Amino acid sequence: MNDLLLKALACETVPRPPVWLMRQAGRYMPQYRAIRENYTLWEMFHRPDIASTITHLPLELLGVDAAILFSDILVIAEALGLSVLFPETGGPRIEPSIKTASQASSLIYIPVKQSLSYVFETIKRVKQTIEVPLIGFCGGPFTVATYFLDSINHGAFELTKKWIKEDPSALHQLLTILTEVTIAYSQAQVEAGADVIQIFDSWANVLNDEEFPVFSLFYLKQIVDALNVPVIVFCRGSSLRAESLAKLNPTGISFDWELSIFDLRRKVPPTIAVQGNFNPEFLKLPKEQIVHHVEEVLALMKNERGHIVNLGHGVTPDISLENVRCFVDTVKKCK
Ligand code: CP3
Repeated sequence: MNDLLLKALACETVPRPPVWLMRQAGRYMPQYRAIRENYTLWEMFHRPDIASTITHLPLELLGVDAAILFSDILVIAEALGLSVLFPETGGPRIEPSIKTASQASSLIYIPVKQSLSYVFETIKRVKQTIEVPLIGFCGGPFTVATYFLDSINHGAFELTKKWIKEDPSALHQLLTILTEVTIAYSQAQVEAGADVIQIFDSWANVLNDEEFPVFSLFYLKQIVDALNVPVIVFCRGSSLRAESLAKLNPTGISFDWELSIFDLRRKVPPTIAVQGNFNPEFLKLPKEQIVHHVEEVLALMKNERGHIVNLGHGVTPDISLENVRCFVDTVKKCK
């Protein structure tokens, strides 16, 4: 068993830092695109045979130090009786989307073991065949709520912002329900075999400094505290909110590239691991420059504990597999 990730999360000394990437199984991979030609995204997320095959791809093609479950943060909608759609263009949608406070409070919880059984089945399958830790994940309640409320024209966050200003109690009601379901969902992933949980509160950057603790951190804290495996938290803007995320006392924080990982290591208590934070764009540079930059950062971090190499956000489809492999190989050669 390769336990570099678990050791780095425990801030123990490791021979080299572990490496994995957000969105490590995705459209940048020809092998992923080949599967995607034959199935809809909905099928890919719902069929344990396909989802487990895709979860494996980065292990086979890149030799990363962790697997991340192939799923999506939005499937949790099915535990509240809603559907999640992945149209070919325009991003995912929740149907029916929530428009009123009374719709939010009348959502009915369908136990996750029933509504999301296919996710646990995928985890069980993957666990039988891997020798690296498996990362399960969930969305931060605020981020998931933005998709419930602003399913169409998501980027404008129109209804989310309206509720923040005009009906915060309705938003809190929705966030409370989502937090409860997210805890049950994450715990069931752990029960099925997930070794680590990463919480993606990707859109928490929409919140200002007054709103962030109230609509994001308050709910993240409940999830972090409810889980008995290592928990990594991620949000856009995490570098600029390092101190407040550290107050959650998660096992690790996944950082964007606004600040250097060396400086972030110093901002966060030594008992919390730091993950990140290469700009995905840098993987478009010639390979010599990728090698040079990775070596530079690793040399700087050489004596630091609790360092996990990753990107500051997901790999984008326009990055070549060859360059991603070069990135991973350079970390693995590090002494
Ligand atoms: O990291 C991984 O490889 C694990 C799988 C994973 C997916 N989604 C698969 C996926 C994870 C961890 C997610 C999380 C997720 N989903 C987030 C938070 C992380 C982040 O990127 O900020 C969010 C906001 C979503 C919602 C979502 N799902 C969006 C906005 C989209 C469309 C945009 C896009 O990136 O393509 C999806 C679809 C989705 N989820 C894809 C994948 C691989 C794209 C699939 C495809 O087009 O083939």
